[in-house]
Amino acid sequence: MTRYQTLAVSRDGPVLHIRLDRPEVRNAFNGTVVEELQLAFREVDRDTTTHVVVLAGNGKSFSAGADLAWMQQQSALPPEQNELGAEAMARMFLSIARCRKPVIGRVHGHALGGGTGLVASVDMAFCTEDCVFGLTEVKLGIVPAVISPFVLQKIGAGRARTLFLTGERFDGREAQRIGLVHRALAGESALDAAVQQAIEELLSSGPKAVASAKELIRNVAGLSMEEAITPTSRWIAQLRATPEAQEGIAAFLGKRKAGWIPS
Ligand code: COA
Repeated sequence: MTRYQTLAVSRDGPVLHIRLDRPEVRNAFNGTVVEELQLAFREVDRDTTTHVVVLAGNGKSFSAGADLAWMQQQSALPPEQNELGAEAMARMFLSIARCRKPVIGRVHGHALGGGTGLVASVDMAFCTEDCVFGLTEVKLGIVPAVISPFVLQKIGAGRARTLFLTGERFDGREAQRIGLVHRALAGESALDAAVQQAIEELLSSGPKAVASAKELIRNVAGLSMEEAITPTSRWIAQLRATPEAQEGIAAFLGKRKAGWIPS
């Protein structure tokens, strides 16, 4: 397994845990984190043993967003280099959102600025009720630019118009109410139990079907019902003929567990 400077990566069978590991700065991400997270998610895409990824943070907080000392250094670079650094940051969020395996966010403490962006880029996030979120960039005279496509997709432009403009902080319950997280839990033990339950749901589903479901959402989200008829019909026609689907359907009809379910 690759060793990283800013990530703590461990495996539990088919589950890969990626923990941001700069607790002294509340897991703020600098250039190294940006590079290493992309590398880690590229490896997940290639690796056939990983079926689920859990993204979390070591220490008091999930992530305090972009490292502001690094942002300051970046702003002093020549414009092309400044832009390249920002693009790398955008690609880090994309590598999470586009990961071929389902990604669960385990969110505690704070998820501010780009930390809220990381929450928006995972497939399903769980947090503690007292976790603090916020698109706080305007408080620093900047904007949540590279994270905006991910956040807008989760919470919609209407809510973003308040949260991007005010930079106000909000808690986990509110994050659940607006759809940024799937569930907010009463404490960290309940949070871990909810993450575990999601892992078990994912592992009892066909791995190729889970990956296909993720791609389906991406492909269909922008289509009208009429436009969706042909591509979605093709989708199910092709998928139900695959060995995995044949096994899943035969297992149900034969009243047995599908072969991919861990014993
Ligand atoms: N970038 C760089 N350093 C950061 C950081 C960030 N985004 N967030 C926190 N840190 C550093 C602090 O400067 C401090 O460093 P120090 O120990 O050298 O003084 C250390 O992390 C701990 O932070 P502190 O504020 O003392 O911890 P806290 O637990 O009281 O509060 C936060 C944690 C996350 C609420 C608070 O640090 C904060 O509001 N951070 C800024 C978040 C933000 O606006 N992010 C948007 C970035 S675009």
